[in-house]
Amino acid sequence: METASPAEEPIPASRPARRATAETMASRQREISVSEFFTKNRHLLGFDNPAKALLTTVKEAVDNSLDACEEAGILPELIVEVKEVGSPTNASGSSRFRVAIEDNGPGIVKPQIAKIFAKLLYGSKFHRLKQSRGQQGIGISAAGLYGQLTTGRPVVIISKIGKGRPAHRIELRIDTKRNHPDVLKDEVVEWDKEHGTRVEIELVAAYRGGRTGVEAYLEQTVVANPHLGLIFRPPKGEVLSFPRVADELPREAEEIKPHPHGVELGMLLRMLHDSPGKSVKQVLMDDFSRISASLAEQVCTLAKVKAKTPASSIVGDDVDRLHTALGQVKVKAPSASCVVPIGEALLIEGLKRRFKADFYVSTTRPPSVYRGNPFVVEVGLAYGGELPTDDPADVMRFANRVPLQYQPKACAISESIYDTNWRSYELQQPRGALPLGPVAIVVHLASVWVPFTSEAKEAVAGYDELLREMKLAVQECGRKLGAHLRARERAVSEQKRLHLFQRYIPEVSEAIGSILARPKDVVQKSFFSALPNFVRIAEEKPKATPDGAPPSGGATPPDLPSGAAGGAPSAAAAAPSPSVAAAAAKKAGPKPKAAAVKAPPPMPTKKRSGKSVRPHQPKKRGPVSLAT
Ligand SMILES: Nc1ncnc2c1ncn2[C@@H]1O[C@H](COP(=O)(O)OP(=O)(O)OP(=O)(O)O)[C@@H](O)[C@H]1O
Ligand SMILES: [Mg+2]
Repeated sequence: METASPAEEPIPASRPARRATAETMASRQREISVSEFFTKNRHLLGFDNPAKALLTTVKEAVDNSLDACEEAGILPELIVEVKEVGSPTNASGSSRFRVAIEDNGPGIVKPQIAKIFAKLLYGSKFHRLKQSRGQQGIGISAAGLYGQLTTGRPVVIISKIGKGRPAHRIELRIDTKRNHPDVLKDEVVEWDKEHGTRVEIELVAAYRGGRTGVEAYLEQTVVANPHLGLIFRPPKGEVLSFPRVADELPREAEEIKPHPHGVELGMLLRMLHDSPGKSVKQVLMDDFSRISASLAEQVCTLAKVKAKTPASSIVGDDVDRLHTALGQVKVKAPSASCVVPIGEALLIEGLKRRFKADFYVSTTRPPSVYRGNPFVVEVGLAYGGELPTDDPADVMRFANRVPLQYQPKACAISESIYDTNWRSYELQQPRGALPLGPVAIVVHLASVWVPFTSEAKEAVAGYDELLREMKLAVQECGRKLGAHLRARERAVSEQKRLHLFQRYIPEVSEAIGSILARPKDVVQKSFFSALPNFVRIAEEKPKATPDGAPPSGGATPPDLPSGAAGGAPSAAAAAPSPSVAAAAAKKAGPKPKAAAVKAPPPMPTKKRSGKSVRPHQPKKRGPVSLAT
């Protein structure tokens, strides 16, 4: 029997030395405050680089101002100021900025100011199902936290709730350990506004142009908010003014209760347990939308749960069965009044505010539901004019009227555009890419709850129902664009034919006149009156844009010469055959160039509002041609 050599003997596993005990580990385990969490993870809230931090700060404050004005029934007038207060700190060009956003909203009552601006997860929108820009209760306090973290400066708020009421100026800091506001200064100041709020945050940031910059955000915001009047004071250059184009506020969105078909089991359980003193039937009727007394009874019967059972005593299988029964009963779809789309006409107005195009079209889909949340998708499209001809389409994504500028690849809205076959609408489209051409596409999702992919609210999650509606809306607009382009193509080719005839009729008339010994004028008159037989003039005009604007692209043929007017001999008798005319034309010389496309009517220009303020003007920036 062979014995193992010492080298082959198994080495006894050495026991690792204990590093920590359950007790020592326990001594380090403690609660994490939400402020501490987001201090470390500020990228989750959209503060991952200085340029984005500036945009997010402006965006959170503007969104809040718009929400507050609309909720109070006030036409919003906003001032956004971005001022550089330090010098660039490093090669990336980041610097210290002071951002101020001022609104004419309802103001904020004094005891609430500190919590709103210096406590994360505090707000009025999270617990309700109502369409609004904000929903999480974290936006503005996160911006203040970022400012505090990068500059050590407090957030400054001025707020006034009505005429004759004091304006409070409050300086705040967040105690991140406790997620609690520290009031550093609290005073009453003179403020010439009747009511409103002004937020000032100092932060390390970078001011950039381009698609993800603050200016682009504001330009897009006015597209989706025609009722907004905005003044923007950038760090350098002229003040921009965006006067409102609609004098009416959007209809107020109705607050709704959860729809029974979208409720998840855990949520149902919480709703039942949070209702002491109520029966199961009562909870079903009171806390869900569209559940009547008889429907509540039907659910209870299906679930084999007595309708009178106290809701807080429901546990185990009963919850499962109630949940299943809720999914089985037939319930009316949620009411459409809880979602407020921009509307087809105003979407076109918004597009015109930004792009000088020839053709505008929009579509608003009927309301639909994902996970019990009602939503509406609408799409607007601008084509031609000053939009760049060889670039990919300019896509603007909106959720509850807020532009989404980051994470396009992760967003269901982009997916719906990439997945559409734009070639069938007469646009070029490289495989798996955006369509090419002078086209701008706006997609707006309005919902009582927008399913963002992260807390930074940058992209919309791809729920099947959402994607389906988005694709249908994009396709609807695409079809209208395709029809317009085809009609325009036909009209342009008819116009070419018309020009050809007009160019050669005098020469051919002269030749034929001399052959037939008839005056040239008589022959020419006959030619012109016979023209409609050869050129389809009237019926080939491209259709008017949906807002009633005249068609663009110059497809309208010019007026016929006066010689074409009535009184001529019968066209069939006097006019030579097209082949005779063509032969004469060939003899007469080279083919004239295609008729020039008529320029679209000029866009309305904005008035100057004040000496130093310039109205927002179209700008060529990157692939985008901007216009008011
Ligand atoms: N300018 C303002 N005027 C009036 N109320 C405001 C204003 N700004 C904020 N608020 C109130 O402060 C709350 C907190 O704002 P915050 O931005 O932190 O959260 P939110 O808007 O509710 O949700 P989100 O985190 O998605 O933005 C709001 O819900 C609103 O009630
Ligand atoms: Mg907010």
